[in-house]
Amino acid sequence: MKILVVGSGGREHAIVWKLAQSPKAEKIYCAPGNGGIEELAECVDIGAMEFEKLAAFAKEKEIDLTVIGMDDPLCGGIVDVFESQGLRVFGPRKNAAILEGSKAFSKDLMKKYGIPTADYQVFTDPEKAEEYLETAKFPIVLKADGLALGKGVLICNTLEEAKAGVKTLMLDKQFGSAGDEIVIEEFLTGREVSVLSFVDGKTIKIMTSAQDHKRAKDGDQGLNTGGMGTFSPSPFYTEEVDAFCREHIYQKTVDAMRAEGREFKGIIFFGLMLTADGPRVLEYNARFGDPETQVVLPRMKNDLADVFEACVDGTLDQVELEFEDNAAVCVVLASDGYPEKYEKGFPISGLETFDGKKDYFVFHAGTKRGADGQILTNGGRVLGVTATGKDLKEARKKAYEATGWISFENKYMRTDIGKAIDEA
Ligand code: AMP
Ligand code: GLY
Repeated sequence: MKILVVGSGGREHAIVWKLAQSPKAEKIYCAPGNGGIEELAECVDIGAMEFEKLAAFAKEKEIDLTVIGMDDPLCGGIVDVFESQGLRVFGPRKNAAILEGSKAFSKDLMKKYGIPTADYQVFTDPEKAEEYLETAKFPIVLKADGLALGKGVLICNTLEEAKAGVKTLMLDKQFGSAGDEIVIEEFLTGREVSVLSFVDGKTIKIMTSAQDHKRAKDGDQGLNTGGMGTFSPSPFYTEEVDAFCREHIYQKTVDAMRAEGREFKGIIFFGLMLTADGPRVLEYNARFGDPETQVVLPRMKNDLADVFEACVDGTLDQVELEFEDNAAVCVVLASDGYPEKYEKGFPISGLETFDGKKDYFVFHAGTKRGADGQILTNGGRVLGVTATGKDLKEARKKAYEATGWISFENKYMRTDIGKAIDEA
């Protein structure tokens, strides 16, 4: 079959890499792709938000399945556009992608269907939000309702900070219209775990667990980023936690969406906090995590094309997901200064060291091919260096060893991805 993947990050590189192993995949295209994806797929210069152009391309090339990697096109309704033109596509429709696109929607859904999450209130009026804060307990969490590149969440320790946060989100509109509405919620403490799942509208199949490191600097200091590294599985995602989530969270979410007339097909990413009172949903995403995908897919045994098709066809109940009994660690190599100001366009060397090496992977996040064919840095997050090993300790050692094979000017990484686990 011919497959088109929409997106350009490390997540899409991992998806393309996994699809390329499927005997079913005779040709893979990626729009717009990046310097690494180019080696496995034909990259097409169409932006992820150019729905009509993408659909026309899919028709012209007789694409059998289009896979949407990113949240923006999903929330913008790309799946509806494809379906209305008779094209097969993997991902939720707009009315279901709202699970990620609106935090107020997802909080109200969880409340209505008794899915465990932090207590909260929703505000559209900044004055009412401030009034509420006067009597609130601190720390407290402010969230822009809409998509904000994972950066629209403010944890505020004092009333002063929280009032400044309301101003940032609702009046200064740092995240644009994403801040027209905000959620103010209870601050939870515990371990965070990411759980990805495949959903076909009715059935949900859980992948292995992972943990992200969102802050820019070692020791979880610095600004929030898209994710600086990740490992899988999470040792804190025990059988007991899994059993709780299966009973109270996963299937309930899928059923709730169906009951609301918003049947969800695609990936649901559960951002969980393992609190002393049990697991709570921090957030839902309607797509694979980035960089979680870079540690989850290398451990998956199934043919990804088969699983995508089962989701589209509604036959996921017949699929048994299988993962290797190993571990994976991904360290993101970023441009120094990310997530704020950074320079790009520097040549990257050492990529060929990964060629033919089992257990070592380099996924491109922000790269492009320069005029002379050399791969150049082209984003904040540049590469995701992943290694697998028999356990987290070994995977971590190998991943860090492999980060040393790569050099580029401005290379920056965290040195403690998976470290707390090592020492646990
Ligand atoms: P979100 O985009 O909702 O996942 O939030 C981004 C990050 O903010 C999460 O990964 C958590 O580290 C943190 N966070 C979100 N909600 C809460 C909460 N209710 N209590 C504590 N931390 C939170
Ligand atoms: N790594 C977090 C995310 O993809 O949202």
